Amino acid sequence: MSELFIQGPNKLSGEICIHGAKNSTLPLMAASLLCDNECILHNCPVLSDVDTSLKILRYLGCRVQRLGNDVAIDPSSADQCKIPDSLMREMRSSIIFLGAIVSRMGKAELSFPGGCELGPRPIDLHLLALRKMGVIIEEDHGCLKCSAPDGVKGTCINLSFPSVGATENIMIAASCAKGTTIITNAAREPEIWDLADFLNSCGAKIYGAGESTVVIEGVKSLSGCEHRVIPDRIAASTFLAAAAITGSTLTVSQIIPEHIAPVIPILEECGCHFDISKSSMKITAPKRLGRVKSVRTMPYPGFPTDAQAPVMAMTTLSDGTSVFIETIFESRYKHVGELLRLGANIKVEGRVAIVEGVSRLSGAPVEAADLRGGAALVVAGLAAQGVTQISGLKHLDRGYESLEKSLASLGADIKRI
Ligand code: EPZ
Repeated sequence: MSELFIQGPNKLSGEICIHGAKNSTLPLMAASLLCDNECILHNCPVLSDVDTSLKILRYLGCRVQRLGNDVAIDPSSADQCKIPDSLMREMRSSIIFLGAIVSRMGKAELSFPGGCELGPRPIDLHLLALRKMGVIIEEDHGCLKCSAPDGVKGTCINLSFPSVGATENIMIAASCAKGTTIITNAAREPEIWDLADFLNSCGAKIYGAGESTVVIEGVKSLSGCEHRVIPDRIAASTFLAAAAITGSTLTVSQIIPEHIAPVIPILEECGCHFDISKSSMKITAPKRLGRVKSVRTMPYPGFPTDAQAPVMAMTTLSDGTSVFIETIFESRYKHVGELLRLGANIKVEGRVAIVEGVSRLSGAPVEAADLRGGAALVVAGLAAQGVTQISGLKHLDRGYESLEKSLASLGADIKRI
């Protein structure tokens, strides 16, 4: 298994173009299944999760082509309604295919999804909503047998929590349903807007995406379209954290600054300055970061849980005590034990983590246990004295497109061996 070797400390400089968003590409690929003809997605990141979605689409009978960051999906030949357990286990997002398959095929058979171990990740909100839309769901030995003999019906759905995945599954299932669906307490993440933009370009009637109430008037059919995936706001936040911890000046481009707005005040609080333009931002970090009073992860437009780990790594070298409260996932601090190996000083009490800034980190062998935790180890490793050796790269490759090449292009001494 290849590993990353970072010789630190490093200074970064120059400009990094941010790739398309993983968490937008995956639901868009599932939604393409609703169309009668070809969809073309531009700015698709080259990631193992995207490859898994391509495998699922091919397994369902779609014709799929990939050319660099462009993916063409022709669902007109799709004739399957089952997804093998092996593919379902590869990622959490596989569950988003449920709404699309039931809507297209009138039935679906799949197992419970896999993905990052962030504590319990139930799908009860997905199933509750689809059942309300007339889908009959039998849960049997870890398998979900679903059918909609009278078709999927529009209805009112109030989500007890603004789940991103459940909102996406409902929007997809409702797009070609009979009647109108109204989702209240819907997720408001930029990836939800992007999905609505895509489906509306295919002929859907979705209103209010990005707000807490989303209205979807079901239509008879959808036809394919061309769509550009939004930039990855979490990848951008990770590069900003890397620039901050290394005291660097860096330009992050091909982004939508508004999507990163929940993260900026945190970096400003610890002394970073920003020069923001329409599609890029320049960060100038101080020689030593100040502390961050408290970071509470929340649904969008709150601070994103996916940026918690890289930003926590950033505060390990700050001057003072920073407090993190993880409200979205039960156990999303697996990176803490590995950061301690690099010399960080962090105490965890349930969902609260207290980071006492230290004056130096020193390189050591560490292991990524999940995607964003892996990114945290890279951020810390860039500033650590000596060699940081990171294993468990399969997690990183799920969400970052050749991270080491990007960082090396910014001047980092980093190799994958
Ligand atoms: C999406 O996951 C993202 N994944 C996650 O990013 C992200 O952390 C999360 O949203 C929150 O922003 C993708 O978009 C592929 P949720 P998702 O449903 O849809 C509970 C990354 O690093 N819940 O909003 O799974 C759930 O347990 C990944 O890129 C239920 O209880 O997130 C969690 O505590 C990791 N029942 C909370 O809601 C349900 O039916 C948020 O989950 C669904 C969710």
